[in-house]
Amino acid sequence: MSLVKLEGVSLSLSGKVLFKDVNFSIQAGDKIGVIGNNGSGKTSLLRSIAKHINEHEGIIAHSKGLRCQYVEQGFPEQWDELSASGILESYLCDSVDDRWRVDYVLELCGFPKDHRSLPFNQLNGGWKKTLMIAKAILVEPDLLLLDEPTNHLDQDHIANIIRLLRDSNIVPTFVVISHNRSFLDSVTQSTLILQDRTISYFGFSFTQARKLFLEQEHASACSRTEVMNEIQRLKKSAQFQRQLGVNNYSDKALQKAKKIEKRIKIIEASVPEKQTSRKAGITLEVDEFKARHILRIEGLRLYSTPEHMLFAIESLVVNRGDRLVISGANGCGKSTLLKAIINESSLSIKMGPSVKIAVLDQELSLLPPGAEVLEFFMNSFELDRQQAINKLAASGFSYIESQKKIEQLSYGERARLAMLMLRLTNPNFLILDEPTNHLDISSQEMLEGEIQRLNAAALIVSHDIRFIENVGTRFFEIADGRCRERL
Ligand SMILES: Nc1ncnc2c1ncn2[C@@H]1O[C@H](COP(=O)(O)OP(=O)(O)OP(=O)(O)O)[C@@H](O)[C@H]1O
Ligand SMILES: [Mg+2]
Repeated sequence: MSLVKLEGVSLSLSGKVLFKDVNFSIQAGDKIGVIGNNGSGKTSLLRSIAKHINEHEGIIAHSKGLRCQYVEQGFPEQWDELSASGILESYLCDSVDDRWRVDYVLELCGFPKDHRSLPFNQLNGGWKKTLMIAKAILVEPDLLLLDEPTNHLDQDHIANIIRLLRDSNIVPTFVVISHNRSFLDSVTQSTLILQDRTISYFGFSFTQARKLFLEQEHASACSRTEVMNEIQRLKKSAQFQRQLGVNNYSDKALQKAKKIEKRIKIIEASVPEKQTSRKAGITLEVDEFKARHILRIEGLRLYSTPEHMLFAIESLVVNRGDRLVISGANGCGKSTLLKAIINESSLSIKMGPSVKIAVLDQELSLLPPGAEVLEFFMNSFELDRQQAINKLAASGFSYIESQKKIEQLSYGERARLAMLMLRLTNPNFLILDEPTNHLDISSQEMLEGEIQRLNAAALIVSHDIRFIENVGTRFFEIADGRCRERL
């Protein structure tokens, strides 16, 4: 049974065509993954299907009475002051007797009992996301649309979501956007690839679908080359006939030239479109650090409330060139530690005298959503308009994009903007909290390459196993109330 049908759907936002003439349907039982570069239009596609935006051309038809839930990529600000249980209860439309369902769903999602009365804004990213998924599951949707659900989540939570999607019957049909390859392979059965304004469908999960897609791209590039060669050959032949006609006053040769030229036009119109994906690199710059010690922590105890100690650190020293990775389950206090270090909020934390920190926090809080990109950028770095436009353009932000408000950028675009800002502060110590969240796969690889190239000193919190392995030099783990180096 078809739940949603897209017929001839096209979407443009702020004059940028995201996709054209898309046709596909979502059948009951489908488990579809969506991949594509940052800013290619994945979120906009899901929001259109969910009818959160209505700016498309063509038809998006829902089956009668369809319950469709969309779990968005960011966090809902309107929940900030509400407790986890309160949020879910507010979505129960029926009687008080239904309250058990809130506990049932929270239990199902592994949401800890002692977090249920905390306000949303005090939850860490992992729990926030889990709660958003719990809210969607609460109404037993026929179709669940998930926008990068594994960002912010540790491995245990990712495993939990895999279990919910794959092994339980709670979510029979879903479409999920993700840049997490192993997650996609675990839960999806088919894939939509959004690239160059077209959406290609494959009846396989990520790895197989991407392989086929690359093969198709290769074949199309080869056939394009073949056709271009043929066009060149025909052009030479037409030129020869034309010359022959002129030199020998031969109408026959001139007509032949015309015929060939006509044929060239027909062939040119059928040439497969050249791939136009523009991809500006992610680049970082860091100042050289002269002293040996960047940061020294001795005998630190970190608390979430005066009564509740999160963990203690006996000794942690960051030297020049060290890239420390801090790991631990969601909620163990990693971000609290980073905040304490940034603010040097304890006498136990001593930063070297010439340390210049650049921070990339999980929620990109340095980017005010309502500000215009260009203006914010000019003000932040005291640049004139042209300088700012040039710097933004070098990082892949066109003039039109630089005129958008930050909240109109896709999350990956925001992450790239935050990286550009980080670069312009010329830091010598990077503090990165989940830096690969929202970045597409090639941007993740670029960031890894930059950190390695610069041999930058950094303190990194990340659940992204591949990223950690590629950039980390020392590894600390928070467990059982202590933060210790894994040797
Ligand atoms: N409300 C809006 N107004 C103008 N432009 C928008 C708006 N929303 C999105 N865009 C633009 O449309 C493009 C696609 O955005 P979208 O969020 O759909 O991308 P995405 O594929 O989900 O990217 P990411 O991987 O970074 O999440 C981006 O260039 C973005 O800046
Ligand atoms: Mg998106």
